[in-house]
Amino acid sequence: MAVPLFDTATPLAPLRPEIDVAIARVVDSGRFILGPEVAAFEREFAAFCGAPHAVGVANGTEALTIALRAMGVGPGDDVVVPSFTFYASAEAIPPTGARPVFCDVDPDTACVSADTVRAALTPATKAVIAVHLFGNVAPVAEIETLGVPVLEDAAQAAGSLSDAGRPGALGTAATFSFFPAKNLGAFGDGGAITTADEALADRVRTLRFHGSRDKISYEQVGYNSRLDELQAAILRVQLPHVDDWADGRRAAARHYAEAGLGELATLPVPVPGAQPAWHLYVVRSAHADAIAEQLAQRDIGARAYYRTPVHRQPAMAAYGAEAELPATDELAATHLAIPMSPVLDRAQADEVVQAIAAASD
Ligand SMILES: Cc1ncc(COP(=O)(O)O)c(C=O)c1O
Repeated sequence: MAVPLFDTATPLAPLRPEIDVAIARVVDSGRFILGPEVAAFEREFAAFCGAPHAVGVANGTEALTIALRAMGVGPGDDVVVPSFTFYASAEAIPPTGARPVFCDVDPDTACVSADTVRAALTPATKAVIAVHLFGNVAPVAEIETLGVPVLEDAAQAAGSLSDAGRPGALGTAATFSFFPAKNLGAFGDGGAITTADEALADRVRTLRFHGSRDKISYEQVGYNSRLDELQAAILRVQLPHVDDWADGRRAAARHYAEAGLGELATLPVPVPGAQPAWHLYVVRSAHADAIAEQLAQRDIGARAYYRTPVHRQPAMAAYGAEAELPATDELAATHLAIPMSPVLDRAQADEVVQAIAAASD
């Protein structure tokens, strides 16, 4: 039985008629940029996250840059960011004029912790980017006790829950990506910034629109970075289903555990108080590459996303060359994403686990 690495098509299929209606509504309206769909999605997404404000932007990478600038980050500042993450978490920092300072992660949760952030603080630290990696929920409140504002990178964590609230409502601000494969995915690029701070939300709205309120007067050098009406309309159809899909992802993780995966590989550990909506289900094994090869032979998707951690990427040489991040190096060498989706059932989990068992013989 083939098992794909992720399956976005099956959960979307029943929504197709509603999505077609939403697309036709936008096309018929002739309004494609910053109209009623984006405004409605911003209200609905803010309510979903439990954050007073949401602002739609073009993608999750620009969401980070814009949010950092709205938090006052600029030249001469340092921003602490994990190296074990998607490259964009760090790539978004230099365009603000600030410098990325790489920190380690907790090896079990793959998220930053107060301890890993503390070790990277400098006198110039202006913000910390806490990545909710793979859908886990980084301990934002603990990191805030260090006295530095936290920007949540929640690109992978739509639908996750924690005792402290949802991603998007935990830090000074949070950013989301609606890249198609994400837990809440558009039919193209999209992103959002959430915050409880009204003045910050206002700065974000201006920055996404050329640093202007009216396209007549330009207060600062900004961006053309908008979520468009078609994507917002499509996201509005999906948003009411994100919690059910998250339940499906959590059920898939349980299927893996019940099928005995924990005896063959090290399973991801939720941060205390978190109920992750696993965007990627990432296990650890000393034989990760050999397992991936064997799974590929059986048409089972598996992929190491971050074999070279961000601080070792050529583009980050000016910032990351000196960093010593043992947990990051260990995770980078041993991690492997295996199939995960809202509809991954027990039979598929059994198939994957049996294939991993055969690869481990
Ligand atoms: C952790 C993380 N941060 C940032 C991004 C950037 O989002 P986008 O691709 O929408 O620019 C992504 C996803 O692509 C991501 O996984």
